[in-house]
Amino acid sequence: MTSLAVVPGSFDPVTLGHLDVVERARNLFDEVHVVVVHNPAKSALLPVARRVELIEQSLADAGISDRVSVTSWSVGLLADYCQEVGANAIVKGIRTEVDVTYETPMAIVNRDLAGIETVFVLPNPAHSHVSSSLVRQVAALGGDVSPYVPSAVSAFMNSADYSER
Ligand code: PNS
Repeated sequence: MTSLAVVPGSFDPVTLGHLDVVERARNLFDEVHVVVVHNPAKSALLPVARRVELIEQSLADAGISDRVSVTSWSVGLLADYCQEVGANAIVKGIRTEVDVTYETPMAIVNRDLAGIETVFVLPNPAHSHVSSSLVRQVAALGGDVSPYVPSAVSAFMNSADYSER
């Protein structure tokens, strides 16, 4: 039987830390769905469709797109998506104890809702300080985000498409 992991997040934008988590999920499961979820608690930088495109391009550039698909989900609970596709687990990255505090209630709620387990992986410590919110802040103040994001994302953020938003 084929095993399927869901790697959800806002991915606004996708970072090198996210790619690390997808790669680890891909090492553990036969198939991976990266799911871009609109998080109403966060003010968005990029439209969801653009986030999906940038993830797809970044995965291809990193050579980890095989067995990985990218989609978005906006019509309800992540648990509903997991049930709909028959996922075996949600995979999340844990950088610091702050992530444990943030992720634990979500993992328990998702298990209550859909019986789905969350598998936590430890990303490369080189990325432990990297977050999308930090990237958004550096970008908003005109700084260089290229150390934190895949080249497809920094290229997009330096492009006219982005600066003319
Ligand atoms: O990258 P983020 O913003 O930390 O990801 C959080 C996300 C999008 C995975 C989380 O907010 C989520 O699962 N939202 C979907 C709505 C939902 O199912 N909420 C209840 C269960 S936690």
